[in-house]
Amino acid sequence: MGLNDYLAGRRGPEPSRPEPDGPAPDAPAPAPRHVRPEPAERPADALSAVRRRVHRSLLEVLGPQLYADVGGDDDLRRRVTETVEDVLTWEETPLTAADRTRVVADVTDEILGHGPLEPLLRDPDVTEIMVNGPDLIFIERGGRLTEVDAHFHDDAHLRRVIDRIVSRVGRHVDEASPMVDARLPDGSRVNAVVGPIALDGSLLTIRKFAKDPYTVDDLISFGTITAPVAELLDACVRGRLDMVISGGTGSGKTTTLNVLSGFIPPGDRVVTIEDAAELQLRQRHVLRLESRPRNTEGRGEVTIRDLVRNALRMRPDRIVVGEVRDGAALDMLQAMNTGHDGSLTTVHANTPRDALARLETMVLMAGVDLPARAIREQIASAIDVIIQVSRMKDGVRRITHVSEVTGMEGDIVTLQDIFVFDYRAGMDETGRYRGTLVPTGLRPAFLEEIAKAGVTVPPGLFGHTAPW
Ligand SMILES: Nc1ncnc2c1ncn2[C@@H]1O[C@H](COP(=O)(O)OP(=O)(O)OP(=O)(O)O)[C@@H](O)[C@H]1O
Ligand SMILES: [Mg+2]
Repeated sequence: MGLNDYLAGRRGPEPSRPEPDGPAPDAPAPAPRHVRPEPAERPADALSAVRRRVHRSLLEVLGPQLYADVGGDDDLRRRVTETVEDVLTWEETPLTAADRTRVVADVTDEILGHGPLEPLLRDPDVTEIMVNGPDLIFIERGGRLTEVDAHFHDDAHLRRVIDRIVSRVGRHVDEASPMVDARLPDGSRVNAVVGPIALDGSLLTIRKFAKDPYTVDDLISFGTITAPVAELLDACVRGRLDMVISGGTGSGKTTTLNVLSGFIPPGDRVVTIEDAAELQLRQRHVLRLESRPRNTEGRGEVTIRDLVRNALRMRPDRIVVGEVRDGAALDMLQAMNTGHDGSLTTVHANTPRDALARLETMVLMAGVDLPARAIREQIASAIDVIIQVSRMKDGVRRITHVSEVTGMEGDIVTLQDIFVFDYRAGMDETGRYRGTLVPTGLRPAFLEEIAKAGVTVPPGLFGHTAPW
């Protein structure tokens, strides 16, 4: 194969292929998808050719109007439905009334909605949708990943769905800016990556959120947390401890943060700071801030760090930061050490000890020349409790550690586990862990501190009632 042919092939099919029913005889053969098995034979659907023809004609007739944000969705839906009906009158294939209705519904869904993703978006049990190019769609249901039997017609189809999603929130994705974050109207978080960065077709990841955010009772019923630990964490929040939720990607950090934020008393003035607004605090005295990426001219960026600094001038009682990933950690620690007790945040780490190491690294990213010991002292005096969350092998997201930061010994920050998940109980016949969070028997030193705020917990909570 010549270099030009190779390059043409690598670029994949043109976005507006002249004949979507099959490549023109003289078209270059599509490039083999690297390491991707051929998609399974698609079910022969007598209507699909009609659907594709109608779809194409509709794109020709309505063109850019489909993505222009004028007249609202109802107006657009009316125009699309009318045009589909119009186009169908020219269709040669005889259709029954039922087929006709189905084609209208399918094409309208595809044009106005999210094509094959629509049923997955509607299904409340699906928590994540992952599109690896037009032929491969995975979902997460009940904590487990599975492939679904659905696909896009081609990458151009997938791109149109992506364009629709991102243009609705005023963003844009193309070769020049091939990665984008966006939202669906229901708040679901969307990330899309297109060519040339994505090599085997556009990639789309949608994190869905429960319509009603999970409550502490939900987490207890899922087995994420036990009632006594929920009671302890409630006391920690009311007692104004500074807490960090640590966990891997998609382990449930933000969800846990949301639930813990729910324990903040209604009178407290809370500033929330996030990359993408996900927290849903019910209290009235909440000031929500969202960071902003730089625009296409490279200007206008507002970072989490800027927002944390600004928050300190807004007289907050507490600051809740969605996730710290960089030098913002330094400002967050300073806020915790200077009268904003009861602040909460999350970090990406796999164990409580790892969370401490991550925080140290992130403080260094602030570009302030602090010796390691000084950083650790800041961490040790700022943070009281680390909660570790994890999506475990059985697909269930659980809190695996509640650990107290007790101080420093020499150069090391000391940690003490108060509750840990009991793996020793093994798994049941369905492959689900039998264990639960069990107390280590250690009484946390922070009880004294929360008592100062007038908060107490039942003494039996920690396994052994203290003999004194
Ligand atoms: N305890 C839980 N039980 C069941 N599902 C949960 C639980 N916690 C979170 N989820 C679901 O798991 C998904 C990921 O949750 P969440 O966004 O809280 O994770 P995260 O750790 O913050 O992810 P990221 O690393 O992307 O920020 C969401 O769909 C959420 O609804
Ligand atoms: Mg999160």
